[in-house]
Amino acid sequence: MTAVGIDAIEIWTGNLKLDLPGTFAPQKGEEPEKYTKGLGLNASSFPDSYEDIVTMAANASHRLMERKGLEPDDIGRIDVATESAFDNSKPVSTYVAGCLEQVFDGDFHHANKGERKFACIAGTQSLDDAYNWIRAGRNRGRGAIVIATDTALYARGDAGEATQGAGAVAMYITEDPDLVKLSPEQGYGSADETDFLKPNQQFPSVDGKRSVQVYLARMREALQDFESVHGESHPDQYAYIPFHTPFPGMVRKAGLLVYRHMIRDTGIEDDLADEIGRQPRSEAFDDDEAFHDALRAYMDDLKETETYQEWYEATIDPTLTLSREVGNWYTGSVHVARVSALKHGLENDLDLAGSKLLVGSYGSGAQAEGHAETIQDGWREEIEALNVDEQLETRYDMSWEDYEEVHDVHNHEMDVDVEEFTAPESEFVFDGWGRMGERQYRYVE
Ligand code: CAA
Repeated sequence: MTAVGIDAIEIWTGNLKLDLPGTFAPQKGEEPEKYTKGLGLNASSFPDSYEDIVTMAANASHRLMERKGLEPDDIGRIDVATESAFDNSKPVSTYVAGCLEQVFDGDFHHANKGERKFACIAGTQSLDDAYNWIRAGRNRGRGAIVIATDTALYARGDAGEATQGAGAVAMYITEDPDLVKLSPEQGYGSADETDFLKPNQQFPSVDGKRSVQVYLARMREALQDFESVHGESHPDQYAYIPFHTPFPGMVRKAGLLVYRHMIRDTGIEDDLADEIGRQPRSEAFDDDEAFHDALRAYMDDLKETETYQEWYEATIDPTLTLSREVGNWYTGSVHVARVSALKHGLENDLDLAGSKLLVGSYGSGAQAEGHAETIQDGWREEIEALNVDEQLETRYDMSWEDYEEVHDVHNHEMDVDVEEFTAPESEFVFDGWGRMGERQYRYVE
């Protein structure tokens, strides 16, 4: 069976930065530790006034195509996943193609374009669509560009304001990929939930506390469903487990949940029973309500064990390094977590080729998906080529007054005009509204 997967990835962060413990927490009358220790966040990436989902998506794709030496004729499909769209008809991918046609010879008239929506899981769903398109043999030798792009902003005063972010991830999906091969098996946990909505509004309505519980419940189902087709998992089977990361504190909970699930029937659970002082099997883990109470009690003990902490430090914590500095990128978050993990491998000179990732995606509304990936021989060169650290370092650090000024520019229902804080260079920028209400873009050399 031909290997299909992600050949290359590029990341584009919003050009502004909001320092959460230093700038945001004092204004909210909160302790900085709520951010650094509780939520696990140091900063959010934020879009400047000339940035939006299209500019970030086009900039990430431009870098990806240039670095891989791709021409429009090499691309048969452009899929964009976003929950920050500004048009209910024309997909963001057409805007992105229009931008790219400004800087490449040729056009994308031959390419199939679309837009995927299912909250934050839509990025992974687009990846699955591209995978299926290639595996079905419909790609005529071409690859797909899959982009996850969001301005993840909440209304001023909403609890979610602590977990904002903005950025895009562009991925090139091909046969014989250099970075990771996708496994054909997936598992789902999906239910009609009301945890996070945007009913024709740009800033979300969110039931934050409930959304955390729904995330965990659906992730647990997805893992069970995945195991039903892939076989039971063992904690040592995966080099890293990148999850959807709205904030690292969420993934701390998810990591514990997955570990607890994986150690069943492995002997590890019995070995830990003495250390913890009881057997988890006595808890009602198959009943949703009792599950959360039982989870908290047993998990509190489990997470203190040395065995768990070693596993967490090696398998989960490395996936969170970038997220701590950028916040939530909605559709892009799980793909940022994958990059973060592979960067850890590079920085620690690990031999990862052939190792596996278990990728846990989640979208409110709600659905979780688990699938496995195998790291390919070319992973090192692909990760070395990224300039994400440089991008993060050069963000403009906003004062509280700057933040107040620029926040509502990104609520498309409001007509707010604010000067830019940074000078765009070699990137696409928003260039005003057109005759029919369309957004217009230009490339700044
Ligand atoms: N020192 C150490 N820790 C502290 C602390 C301090 N001084 N102060 C607070 N904390 C801890 C709290 O104990 C808590 O940790 P636990 O959850 O482990 O108990 C953590 O910091 C957060 O504190 P609060 O719960 O008091 O924070 P909050 O009331 O501001 O709400 C939130 C947090 C619900 C996540 C809110 O930010 C929110 O609504 N965010 C948006 C929704 C979201 O991201 N949901 C995630 C799941 S849904 C999803 O994943 C889809 C998506 O992308 C939106």
